[in-house]
Amino acid sequence: MKPRYKICVLSGDGIGPEIAEATYGVLHRVEQVFGVSFDFEEALIGGCAIDATGTALPEETLALARESDAVLLGAVGGPKWDTTSPEAPRPEDGLLGIRKELGLYMNLRPVQTYSAIASSSPVKADRLENVDILIVRELTGGLYFGEHATQAGVAGAGVGGAKGTRAYDVMEYSEHEIERIMRRAFEMAATRRGRVTSVDKANVLDTGRLWRRVAHEVATEFPEVEHNDMLVDNCAMQLVAFPAQFDVIVTENTFGDILSDEASVLAGSLGLLASASIGDGVSLYEPCHGSAPDISGKNWANPIGQIQSAAMMLRYGFGMDAAATAVDNAVQKALDDGWRTRDIAQDATPASQIVGTHEMSEKIIERIREDV
Ligand code: IPM
Ligand code: MN
Repeated sequence: MKPRYKICVLSGDGIGPEIAEATYGVLHRVEQVFGVSFDFEEALIGGCAIDATGTALPEETLALARESDAVLLGAVGGPKWDTTSPEAPRPEDGLLGIRKELGLYMNLRPVQTYSAIASSSPVKADRLENVDILIVRELTGGLYFGEHATQAGVAGAGVGGAKGTRAYDVMEYSEHEIERIMRRAFEMAATRRGRVTSVDKANVLDTGRLWRRVAHEVATEFPEVEHNDMLVDNCAMQLVAFPAQFDVIVTENTFGDILSDEASVLAGSLGLLASASIGDGVSLYEPCHGSAPDISGKNWANPIGQIQSAAMMLRYGFGMDAAATAVDNAVQKALDDGWRTRDIAQDATPASQIVGTHEMSEKIIERIREDV
């Protein structure tokens, strides 16, 4: 009997459906080459779900996610639903809601560089040598999930000291929340180059000091893993100046969000970055980029971030290491052979050719082989 997995596909908004389509092709190829069956079931999330049901995370979507073996997500959001009104439903609520409901407290964001497209990065090529970073972002705590409110009519909050509006977002972490992600980060580092950089703002924030104390406690359990602390502002600078020093970076939710966009510049494009969001139950796999409404519907989007997210699903979700490696290698080969989407087309090699989303996925699919 072939192994069978049920995959819940939430393609979402903007370029989401295009990159999801490209990824179906890759997974069909994996079915043929690796003797496995995938059952795909689609549901709504984000702006399209707001339009259809009035909420960004409908009950049926959550129910389907819970009964699946993995969730593959595209992207959410777009100008149609952009509003500064605190009451209006937002596409992002769907994403935050599913992360919380599924308990996905750990977000893995690998950042690797491909020599074939080194010129797509504004960082000098010699600084990019040996860059292989895993950002471990805490995903269900901090500012994103602390108490928030917008209060109108507050004395002294308005311009010139009149009555006006005030808003707040609380950053809160418990020892338990820090400890569980910290331990996973050290475990990851032990299987890689054995180094954890714990990033915080301990010189200013109480949450930062707690983060640092817990990091030191967990570090004592892993004597074989080297560990250092780094303030987040310093880390933002070090990431582009000396990126090769990092192995695993573990940090809280908001810092991880910001640093991972920054780190994508090392790879050459945000469109290349994949992620896995993991908790104790079903996991979710999504690219780090957003819905890119400016290029949606044009067949321009880079599908690699979504395809590599599917590779992470194969590896972490289904234990299919050989298939995941085959997809990674196929992406690498397609780039080595000169195939480029627009976001990574900065090199002027005569061999390089610009293709669309669909064609790029075909180039990758053709290169997926069993003998990796
Ligand atoms: C990400 C995104 C999301 C986040 C948005 C869309 C809510 O930027 O996954 O990095 O901030 O977590
Ligand atoms: Mn982000």
